[in-house]
Amino acid sequence: MTDSPSTPTTEPEQTPATSQAPAAAGQPFSAPKGVPDYVPPASAEFHAVRDAFVARAHEAGYQHIELPVFEETGLYARGVGESTDVVSKEMYTFEDRGGRSVTLRPEGTAGVIRAVIEHNLDRGQLPAKLAYSGPFFRYERPQAGRYRQLQQVGVEAVGVDDPALDAEVIALADRCFRTVGLTGYRLELTSLGDATCRPRYRETLQRFLDGLPLDEATRTRARLNPLRVLDDKRPEMREMLADAPLMLDHLSDGPREHFETVTGLLDDMGVAYTVNPRMVRGLDYYTKTCFEFVHDGLGAQSGIGGGGRYDGLMAQLGGQDLSGIGFGLGVDRTLLALEAEGRCVGTGRRVDVYGVALGAAAKRRMALLVDELRAAGVSADMAYGDRGLKGAMKGADRAGALYALVLGDRELEDGTVALRDLGSHDQEQQELGDVVRVVGERVAQRR
Ligand code: HAM
Repeated sequence: MTDSPSTPTTEPEQTPATSQAPAAAGQPFSAPKGVPDYVPPASAEFHAVRDAFVARAHEAGYQHIELPVFEETGLYARGVGESTDVVSKEMYTFEDRGGRSVTLRPEGTAGVIRAVIEHNLDRGQLPAKLAYSGPFFRYERPQAGRYRQLQQVGVEAVGVDDPALDAEVIALADRCFRTVGLTGYRLELTSLGDATCRPRYRETLQRFLDGLPLDEATRTRARLNPLRVLDDKRPEMREMLADAPLMLDHLSDGPREHFETVTGLLDDMGVAYTVNPRMVRGLDYYTKTCFEFVHDGLGAQSGIGGGGRYDGLMAQLGGQDLSGIGFGLGVDRTLLALEAEGRCVGTGRRVDVYGVALGAAAKRRMALLVDELRAAGVSADMAYGDRGLKGAMKGADRAGALYALVLGDRELEDGTVALRDLGSHDQEQQELGDVVRVVGERVAQRR
């Protein structure tokens, strides 16, 4: 990567009120704490990654869905789960001027299912296959790779409970990462069971946890959501939990067969994975297949994407009792992972052709030429202001252009323009009336 986004500060937060002083009068403003800017040239990579992910989703038949950035707060409380960190600690919730409680979307799945129900997409051809991209908001403690405004590309395949769809979604996520050149990641997979086995397993796990000398906070967590205790990273807890019963060993026949079919299909497709029966996802709606893509070059915030199946979510949100599966891929973390691997995506080229005009009349003609080039589908820009030949040629280099068109009074009189190849530095005169065609052909050859 040529440049990093302005990485949010990583120092521990004091109190929200004192962590970022408002800009004093006359002083410049900073972006909110934990919110990255993507400015050129790094923004080109942001674009390239996001667009590549979206393109792979469209190739697999997922159609774009554009959703509100804020929703009624209850959607997340009911959809994502009151006991999750995301809902209980991290939501940007506020009352609007009409006294309604609204929340900036912390994730995409609940909003997609809300829209599927509201617009009857579950009454059409199933599965409804939908893709989205954009910002999500979580009031987390900022760290490298943990932002308060995060960017995801996600898909949801709604309405069909078929393990082949699980395999499709997982293989699609894998293809997304590979398509941008990422290699140093692994895929972890498990099954969280369903209503036929999870309640029974939960009791078994709770009984096991009741027998351990847990601290008060962990005991409370165990009561609220015992599965989440399995994710405790403290060494003493890991030791105590070594013999904990695992969901994967307590699946009933349906979910077990489902999981075996998914792993079999991934084997067929050559998608490498490891089974991690201790995986805990931070959102409550998951059932059966769950997965995470983990990158080792990112330190603590290693999850570059994740997802899973959600059997009960649609019914919980007031719709039909249909299942779905999807993923959210972290664009910010993918960029950091690419940087950790020393890889670059995108060409770094701002335009293909850069116009340099010397003198007022030449400038006027160049403005027309650049407009004609754009109309012919060639990306083009030109030097503005009085920069002189040297300064203007520097602009051409900075734009990463393939060609410069140089026009002075003499050329204008002759009806020609100098076409300079900025790689080889070869220069030739071209007829002004013909140059759009010539440049168009050359640029097309080099794409
Ligand atoms: P999630 O695992 O919470 O899942 O988020 C998906 C991805 O978003 C993570 O793997 C990570 O790359 C990125 N991400 C999450 N939080 C942050 C953060 N604070 N800063 C930077 N990146 C972050 C979901 O959101 C589910 N809706 C995915 C899904 C779709 N499941 C089923 N369908």
